[in-house]
Amino acid sequence: MKVMAKSKTANKTAWFVQDRFGMFIHWGLYALAARHEWVKRNEKIPTAEYNKYFEHFNPDLFNPREWARLAKGAGMKYFVITAKHHEGFCLWDTKHTAFKATNTPYGRDVLKQVIEAFREEGLKVGVYYSLLDWHHPDFTVDKHHPMRDNPEERKKNEQRQMPRYAAYMRNQVKELLTNYGKIDIIWYDFSYPGEDGKGRADWESEKLYDLICKLQPEIMVDNRLDLEGVGDFVTPEQFQPAAPLLDKEDKPVVWEGCQTFSGSWGYHRDELTWKSTDLLIRMLVDGVSKGGNLLLNIGPTGRGELDYRARERLEGIGQWMRLNSRSIYGCGPAPDGLVAPPDCRYTYNPVTNRLYLHVFAWPFRNIFSPGLSPERVEYAQFLHDASEVLFKPVAEASWNGLGRHLKKDICAFQVPIVKPPVDVPVIELFLK
Ligand code: GLC
Repeated sequence: MKVMAKSKTANKTAWFVQDRFGMFIHWGLYALAARHEWVKRNEKIPTAEYNKYFEHFNPDLFNPREWARLAKGAGMKYFVITAKHHEGFCLWDTKHTAFKATNTPYGRDVLKQVIEAFREEGLKVGVYYSLLDWHHPDFTVDKHHPMRDNPEERKKNEQRQMPRYAAYMRNQVKELLTNYGKIDIIWYDFSYPGEDGKGRADWESEKLYDLICKLQPEIMVDNRLDLEGVGDFVTPEQFQPAAPLLDKEDKPVVWEGCQTFSGSWGYHRDELTWKSTDLLIRMLVDGVSKGGNLLLNIGPTGRGELDYRARERLEGIGQWMRLNSRSIYGCGPAPDGLVAPPDCRYTYNPVTNRLYLHVFAWPFRNIFSPGLSPERVEYAQFLHDASEVLFKPVAEASWNGLGRHLKKDICAFQVPIVKPPVDVPVIELFLK
């Protein structure tokens, strides 16, 4: 699978590929509608009507320390929060619009509190900023806009001036990258060039990018600014790639899959397709096995709390990570030539030279590893309890002379009949 993006400096992303797991936070006025963060567009709600959410934004239970503790407990090492989503509402005390958290009944800078709380728990800080803005008066109506089918609003495009909007974005990014200390990631979303769309010419992406690099040279920038060659990481969304992602020269790129617990990014009361803890762990492992990170999203409620289902899953992932995170942090794809057994994923830590065999579906008695000769393995154990896992050349794994029919470079790991009580059991292989 080939994608466009390259990482300017490997140094910038070193911490990122080590840490592997982060929390995405989508929070804005749409949490009150509780039916998708695109509700304004989906239901074609005029701005005057959408204002009811602005007038009622008062998250009395908002406690960012609690969010940060849950993220840390799940094993997440960084987070990215929507400072501004497509609706245009700003979570911080910006000087450039009145459409901000400090002007709601809640009245306080949300972003500042979140950044402080997460930093205190030791997580790195990421800011998401929407290039789209369905509130700003100069943002022209296009195919994604809530007013896309309204001829009068379309007509007003003649007076709207995108360069003014582009300057507004630069002013805002200046605030974000000046007033909140070191920001580790800036996550722009998103470009849709072409007919009735918007891209680099509308955003003035080059200027924006130069400004970012000037303000915070160490910052990682995503790949959604529609600038060829710009992007420290690639951002597959709700999509698990089948193999490591490659650049034009077939070299692996740094990538981060972003995923929701259910089908929406913002809090969605009636969305019921919640992924199980087990599936989420498998997604994390699957990504790392292909050299990718996972940015797992929460959509806090209008009262400022996490949905009980999100808590439950974060805690479940945390239990797994407490015992198994050695197969995640600092890990990436297996050395060349090693293909994971069916229903399994390998991750590998090149520093410790340990290979991690994750068992997604519990097999009967043996796991056979094609291409891995038993001579290459010094020792094997379950990661969750450090209990030894015995292994032999496959030819010796059956007693009735079957061996002569079997290949030599296959290791047979003997596992118990009953699956150990962990969502995804991991066998840690110390390689020679
Ligand atoms: C999409 C959606 C958006 C969400 C984002 C996360 O681009 O527009 O609602 O914030 O994906 O990747």
